[in-house]
Amino acid sequence: MREAIAYLGLGSNEGDRAAHLGRAVERLGAVPGIGAVRASSWHENAYVGDGPPLAPFLNGAVELRTVLSPAALLGVAKALEAEAGRRLPAPHHRPRPLDIDLLLHGDTIVDTRDLVVPHPRWHEREFVRRPLRELGLDLDALPRWQRPAVLHTPAEFAARCSTWLGGGCTVGLVPTMGALHDGHASLMRRARAECDRTAVTIFVNPLQFGPGEDFAAYPRTFDADLRLCAAQQVDVVFAPEPAAMYDPDFCSHVAVGAAATTMEGALRPGHFGGVATVVARLLALARPTHAYFGEKDAQQLAVVRRMVQDLGFPTAIVPCPIVREPDGLARSSRNVYLGAEDRRACTILYRALASARHAFARGERDRDALLARARAVLATEPRAALDYLELRRDGDLAALPPGPVDGGRLLVAARFAGGVRPVRLLDNLSLDAPPDLPAAAEAP
Ligand code: PAJ
Repeated sequence: MREAIAYLGLGSNEGDRAAHLGRAVERLGAVPGIGAVRASSWHENAYVGDGPPLAPFLNGAVELRTVLSPAALLGVAKALEAEAGRRLPAPHHRPRPLDIDLLLHGDTIVDTRDLVVPHPRWHEREFVRRPLRELGLDLDALPRWQRPAVLHTPAEFAARCSTWLGGGCTVGLVPTMGALHDGHASLMRRARAECDRTAVTIFVNPLQFGPGEDFAAYPRTFDADLRLCAAQQVDVVFAPEPAAMYDPDFCSHVAVGAAATTMEGALRPGHFGGVATVVARLLALARPTHAYFGEKDAQQLAVVRRMVQDLGFPTAIVPCPIVREPDGLARSSRNVYLGAEDRRACTILYRALASARHAFARGERDRDALLARARAVLATEPRAALDYLELRRDGDLAALPPGPVDGGRLLVAARFAGGVRPVRLLDNLSLDAPPDLPAAAEAP
């Protein structure tokens, strides 16, 4: 390893804090491969972080020259923490005699499960910034992570995901078409909670729009989307141009079978082929360990699950529950086009589904009686032009024969034509789902 100048952040809030920090500096100077150790002065800082407040810290920073790799230097730091009496692995939210963070290591970039350099949050913390300034550094000139990083080319995106996977990280992929809302945010939150790294794709995929559909008019709100991704602490946003995803000679498509022929598939020929093709392309680029899809688009979820199983993608498909407005309307990027009257009227979809679910909870088991129940509620709203109402097996959405059912998922689509532009709304509900909204929105 060539020699690099590295910076460490030191902190202590237990025992003789100054002695712990002073000893760490002394011990660093004695490690083979480390030289020219220079420390800032120590400053007292209130605890910053989650949970109840901890005792105040004494903090500072250390500059050193080293031929050790970032991982080896981290190993030295951990050994010094242990020597100072810190239990390792360090229990969360406990006082600590010594805490050493690797802030910077020359211009080296590391992004693995156990180590990220530059330190992802060094620039947000005054207790780090102040000692670095004291060591004479121009903070604006120092490297820092941008989160989310915005990538535009498939090659950059594939390389970033591959670095993560190579560093032992799990990777959660959240494919979207942008115009992001709380429904999308819930997928990101889940990915972030379950995976070491989260990537969101924002791509209005021309392949899944038919002639006469709203590809050109699909809402595009990139700046607001980035703010939402930043608030969800997404690591990377991949936002390619169509030409980058599909070069002029692009001619390979995923053909989807039975799962895509009815309901949305019957009304939008070619739609699910376009969805499956772009999802396959994204899975091949990112090779994520997990990919997150909303139950909002239950048939899309069924098509994607089938494709992943049929083609053998090594990705776990994670279904996420529908996020709704307080009055029951499922959140959707297209809701912005609803006129005021339609916005009020369209809650009929959820109310119709909830009504059938209510009947099921009270013992009704006949498929057609449950459908009739929902259809009767829908018929009370003249603004809703029904495309379909179905009761399907939960999961793969296979057709259920007439007669008694022991569960299933109701799916509905309807058009509302009174707003800025005609809008088709989709909704679905499992017969087994517990009521999840205020009674007014659920009223059967
Ligand atoms: P888009 O409509 O942007 O949706 C992206 C993801 O967010 C989908 O998995 C969708 O089911 C989920 N989602 C949307 N509204 C939701 C809500 N109210 N609650 C929970 N999840 C919700 O679906 C697509 O984009 C595209 O077809 C795509 C898969 C990205 C392929 O182009």
